[in-house]
Amino acid sequence: MNRMNKAVLVINALVVFAAALSLFSATASRGSADAPELQNRAIFGPGDVKHGYESADYTTSTLDLLNRIGKEAELIKFAEQPPLGLPPVPVPADNPLTAKKILLGRKLFFDRRLSINNTFSCAMCHIPEQGFTNNELETAVGVEGRSGKRNTPTIYNVAYFGKIFHDGRESTLEQQVWAPFLARNEMANPSIGYVINKINAIDEYDGLFEEVFHGRGPTMETIGMALASYQRTLNAADSPFDRWYYGKEKNAVSDQVKRGFRLFTGKGACSSCHLVQKEHALFTDDRLHNTGLGYEVSMGRDSGTTRVQLAPGIFTELENSVINSVSRFEKNDLGLYEVTEDPNDRWKFRTPSLRNVALTAPYMHNGSFHTLREVLDFYNRGGIPNELLSPLIRPLNLTDSEIEDLLAFLRSLTGGNVPILVTDAFAAPIGDVSKDDPDWTHKNKLKY
Ligand code: HEC
Ligand code: HEC
Repeated sequence: MNRMNKAVLVINALVVFAAALSLFSATASRGSADAPELQNRAIFGPGDVKHGYESADYTTSTLDLLNRIGKEAELIKFAEQPPLGLPPVPVPADNPLTAKKILLGRKLFFDRRLSINNTFSCAMCHIPEQGFTNNELETAVGVEGRSGKRNTPTIYNVAYFGKIFHDGRESTLEQQVWAPFLARNEMANPSIGYVINKINAIDEYDGLFEEVFHGRGPTMETIGMALASYQRTLNAADSPFDRWYYGKEKNAVSDQVKRGFRLFTGKGACSSCHLVQKEHALFTDDRLHNTGLGYEVSMGRDSGTTRVQLAPGIFTELENSVINSVSRFEKNDLGLYEVTEDPNDRWKFRTPSLRNVALTAPYMHNGSFHTLREVLDFYNRGGIPNELLSPLIRPLNLTDSEIEDLLAFLRSLTGGNVPILVTDAFAAPIGDVSKDDPDWTHKNKLKY
């Protein structure tokens, strides 16, 4: 490819990136209204605030990442005694939690150097102040603007999932990490050894693995074990709902929330998949279902063009074919079928937990719903009919005020300890290439 073509591609990629941002930013302010109790902009919501971006008078109020104030928390306690409403955290016998292992995992999670071009950490898609997901993009964008087909899920309470990823294809957190490390459109490392060699070449890691893993250095296994341990502590519950339902505090939630809960378990039948148990609730059955959303996209409904915002007050209609030609967006997502190749599994996706859902927009495996209201309208219509639609999905005939009640209930699921987990994340060191640390790069310690 000649240089001109490359430049055009890069510009196009930027346009598409801007498009993705502005498509979502139009609804970002509505999204934040989902969590009225959480007004502290420094620890909740997009850093790149686009409020008023549609107007040419827009001035930026983007937050300065360097001025974030962090405070380390005793993370292990959120795994040893999970907050109210959660069951005991399953921890594999061969990877017991220790405070030092969790810290090492956290360090890896925030280290941008562990990507092919030293720019991309786990935390750049699982952004702490955005519900450990990305509120600004429908589907994830990795190194060099390479886009993926799925929405970044939150990693709050991920310790409890037996089926990991939207299609449930992975089974342990220890193994899961190698997917993003190696995916071309995520961190894009060329091999497992490449990541291990990098860690070995970074002075800051000298001795850390050996101390935590009884003499074992960074390996495919120990890297997974450390990252899994950090993630196992990110348990967020003790929400107003939990304090009412499990803590028996009568006034922890409003009457509207209580009505919403009755609809959730009654007329809405939501709890047939988003389970609520006697002693605790994960709001998932850890199974996969067809709601029709994947079917609709597979059948290729396409409006032809997309309105894209290029700068404050400047819009253009772009042909979808142009966007598709540069964005590598794979429209077709067959869900569980991609794991089993059983035609009956087409368009099945894992039931996500609904804990902290007010913080984790946009929603569903492809991020296509920007607000909880849109999700509820979708369920109320009965999803998208198709030959494999789950029998549990059907028109609900909920009235407008019943939908408002359900919304109030969903908003009551935000964990009371979320601010602690977010401010702890702000205290994590961000591994980055710096002028003071020029010596660790490929040219020197890493020879290829
Ligand atoms: C480019 C953005 C991006 C980066 C970087 C990234 N992730 Fe993810 N993460 C995603 C997306 C998208 C998914 C869903 C993928 C799917 O379902 O196929 C996901 C899924 C997950 C899940 C499963 C969650 C669930 O509900 O099943 C975990 C755990 C996770 N990521 C942890 C990590 C860790 C640890 C790292 C760093 C080693 C990382 N991620 C880096 C975007 C990213
Ligand atoms: C048949 C099982 C089933 C039923 C019944 C069900 N859901 Fe879901 N729910 C799912 C699945 C599966 C997904 C993920 C779909 C996807 O990723 O495309 C989901 C996703 C969601 C999401 C988006 C969460 C996120 O993080 O993206 C919300 C909110 C939600 N459901 C709320 C509800 C409510 C409220 C009801 C009742 C009106 C309900 N669900 C009924 C299975 C179900």
